[in-house]
Amino acid sequence: MFDNFPLWPHRASTLAGNVDALFIFLLIVTGMMTVLVFGAIIYFAARYHRRPGVLAEQIEGSTPLELTWSIIPLGVFMVIFLWGAVVYFQERTPPRDATEVYVVAKQWMWKLEHAEGQREINELHVPVGQDVKLIMTSQDVIHSFYVPAFRIKQDVLPGRYTVEWFHPTKAGTYHLFCAEYCGTQHSGMIGSIVVMEPAQYEAWMSGGSSGPLSVAGEKIFAELGCATCHRMDTQGRGPNLLGVFGKPVQLEDGRTVIADENYIRESILDPGAKVVQGFKPVMPTFQGLVSEEQLNALVAYVKSLSKPMEPGVKTAAGQETAPKAPAKGSQVN
Ligand code: CUA
Repeated sequence: MFDNFPLWPHRASTLAGNVDALFIFLLIVTGMMTVLVFGAIIYFAARYHRRPGVLAEQIEGSTPLELTWSIIPLGVFMVIFLWGAVVYFQERTPPRDATEVYVVAKQWMWKLEHAEGQREINELHVPVGQDVKLIMTSQDVIHSFYVPAFRIKQDVLPGRYTVEWFHPTKAGTYHLFCAEYCGTQHSGMIGSIVVMEPAQYEAWMSGGSSGPLSVAGEKIFAELGCATCHRMDTQGRGPNLLGVFGKPVQLEDGRTVIADENYIRESILDPGAKVVQGFKPVMPTFQGLVSEEQLNALVAYVKSLSKPMEPGVKTAAGQETAPKAPAKGSQVN
């Protein structure tokens, strides 16, 4: 009956079950309350309607009754709150070793770049059974990355990174929507997430890449002259970036911040905002000089300086990279 009119989107991520369970619970609670309220209205209307010659009895409050209708709803709302908070924190906390994909939204398309270097437009290929973390930003207005089958939705903002993650559980192709009105072709800003079996994914992955994103970032780092100040020793005019990512950083003004993606991004675009202790605010801004894609590559490079080296992947220290085949036709380079 519902073949062409599904009431429920596919469930294709580990988060989907939790979100649905909470939603069903809310439906049952609100359904029961609706029945209760309308039942009481009808019962009281019949039981206490006006009769000629009968005076209504005046009731001046009842403490047990008032406590009951305060405490029971409080309990119900606390369950909803705590359950919702658990699901929310699950959605908000990407697992540590998730595969990272950079997303740049613009009117009206999604540009995606894998850490390994594969680029895609309006399509994202991922293997089944692996955590995927999306690091997202926008080139123009606010968009929203929405995948109903995974039960995830997150605004994508210009000027900063936002993050969401998922763990696909079923191979298949799932809708990607923009869920924030972003101009005339907002409704056309759609795409698909292709979840593949690991073997298929390996084959797809080996199909084409311009090399890891961090290597592209290293090149930009050199081209922009960053390396002249951010040297790999303590003699540079800027801080040594080795091992910085993910660690607390002591600032000149006494604050301590964690060196996350947004911190690195800000330090490139607005270097004076958070100056590291012991250094002078001498770095020029790169606002307008680097594109969102280049920024992502630079962030990926700085991150790679804090990762244990993976075999076959070239890192900052200049290890050899495994040769990659030339780009596939379907991918954008
Ligand atoms: Cu992008 Cu709506």
